[in-house]
Amino acid sequence: MDRRPYSLLALLPILLCISLPSGSGEPVTAGIPDGSELWGYVEVRPGAHLFWWYYKSPQRTSTPAKPWPTVLWLQGGPGASGVGFGNFQELGPLDVNLQPRNSTWLQKADLIFVDNPVGVGYSYVENDTLLVTTDWEQAADATTLLKALVKEVPTLQSSPLFLVAESYGGKYAATLGASVARAVRAGELNITLGGLALGDSWVSPEDFTLSYTPLLLSVSRLDDNAGDKANKMAETVKEQIAAGNFTDAEGSWNDLLLFIGARSGGVDVYNFLDGSLDDSSSANTPTGSSASTVKAMTKYSRYLSGNESGSNTLNGIMNGVIKEKLKIIPKDLEWEGENQAVYDALINDIMKPRIDEIDELLSYGVSVTVYNGQLDIICSTIGAEAWVQKLKWDGIKTFLSLPRQSLYCDSSKGTKGFARSYKNLHFYWILGAGHFVPVDQPCIALSMISSITQSPAS
Ligand SMILES: *[C@@H]1O[C@H](CO)[C@@H](O)[C@H](O)[C@H]1NC(C)=O
Ligand SMILES: *[C@@H]1O[C@H](CO)[C@@H](O)[C@H](O)[C@H]1NC(C)=O
Ligand SMILES: *[C@@H]1O[C@H](CO)[C@@H](O)[C@H](O)[C@H]1NC(C)=O
Ligand SMILES: *[C@@H]1O[C@H](CO)[C@@H](O)[C@H](O)[C@H]1NC(C)=O
Ligand SMILES: *[C@@H]1O[C@H](CO)[C@@H](O)[C@H](O)[C@H]1NC(C)=O
Repeated sequence: MDRRPYSLLALLPILLCISLPSGSGEPVTAGIPDGSELWGYVEVRPGAHLFWWYYKSPQRTSTPAKPWPTVLWLQGGPGASGVGFGNFQELGPLDVNLQPRNSTWLQKADLIFVDNPVGVGYSYVENDTLLVTTDWEQAADATTLLKALVKEVPTLQSSPLFLVAESYGGKYAATLGASVARAVRAGELNITLGGLALGDSWVSPEDFTLSYTPLLLSVSRLDDNAGDKANKMAETVKEQIAAGNFTDAEGSWNDLLLFIGARSGGVDVYNFLDGSLDDSSSANTPTGSSASTVKAMTKYSRYLSGNESGSNTLNGIMNGVIKEKLKIIPKDLEWEGENQAVYDALINDIMKPRIDEIDELLSYGVSVTVYNGQLDIICSTIGAEAWVQKLKWDGIKTFLSLPRQSLYCDSSKGTKGFARSYKNLHFYWILGAGHFVPVDQPCIALSMISSITQSPAS
């Protein structure tokens, strides 16, 4: 979940004016001649164009008994670019300096990044009225995309597909997963849904909102006085959700985040231990002011930009060398990391839970993994545990009663996490990671994805 303060960012970019030949509805696909990379546009509705980018793993081996998996990465926001952030800053083959990433998930699976929903990143709409207003509209578009990709990407039909999400992407994964499962059952889509993996995912906004105060009190980032006020603000969010007042709930939730920022010394809501990213000035900024929201955005970018040496910026490559390489991006399209219009169009859906969709998938026998970074606040681990406990799936009681297994990556360096599995539900607790698990703990993230997808490269 990236916070709303992006609205301030929307003041900067200029209105896009897209003029691509359109209307044929035929997919536009390009790529590297050997097929190791393919990318393209699918017009999922007239005037609504989704951009996708597929990488075939150099390690790929596949037998009917051990098929090579494909990971479809779903970025959050809503409005954040998976083709940008997920690909170049989290798990793709190259980093933002276009140097190889040694922890890339491409070692374990084929990867598909998508600028989802329409309007994000290189995706675009010819008219803003075409932006999606619900998670389910997103799911319908992404299902249309997959129906096209089964034809465009030769490996996809025989490769189990894993929907792997981060943050708001978890709500996309829940609805897309249910949509794909239904389409497969109806014989409308020839694909194997391998499973879902929900990383620090905004599946139950109420449970995350209620978790902030206890978490921050227990790690000394709020005192009791601020805690009382924050709890009251969280209760308001809960009541508004219960009343079906979702747009108001989003506003109240944002107010709560600003209050927490002001009273916690500007704690980094994506990683409460990352002091280097704390925004000390927000402690003195009145809540609700635009100054603190601008800072929050800067902070998010810096977090994902990390500490890579070299001079490239994501914005620079996406509007420069990458755009040139891909060739099919409309010249007058300016890539943005986060699209505010996409966020705003979804405003009435942002605070709606997607627990029922997870229950539906579990009941079909689809594998569902929840993974969460220990140091995240915005989509905290205790919030994720709270919504998992609300599942109606008949295995939940047994699941909750089982012990956890410790996870290691480099045996000399101690425990890196815990995992618990029962039937088709799995939960990974990732120690020392904030909101962006593959960035903070690349080693354990890689071994987790290998295990979830049962990669032949394990
Ligand atoms: C990957 O690179 C990082 C940073 O350069 C290094 O610390 C790590 O050991 C490397 N991992 C592997 C598996 O080579
Ligand atoms: C966008 O769509 C709306 C509703 O169909 C229409 O009224 C409007 O003229 C369109 N705008 C443009 C720029 O085409
Ligand atoms: C579905 O995909 C499988 C595996 O590639 C293939 O054998 C089968 O013929 C396909 N079925 C349809 C209806 O396309
Ligand atoms: C929605 O919330 C607002 C306050 O944010 C309140 O004034 C209004 O009565 C609520 N509406 C409903 C239907 O609960
Ligand atoms: C980057 O690394 C330097 C030196 O190791 C450190 O002082 C700085 O806080 C780091 N910045 C970020 C954004 O992590």
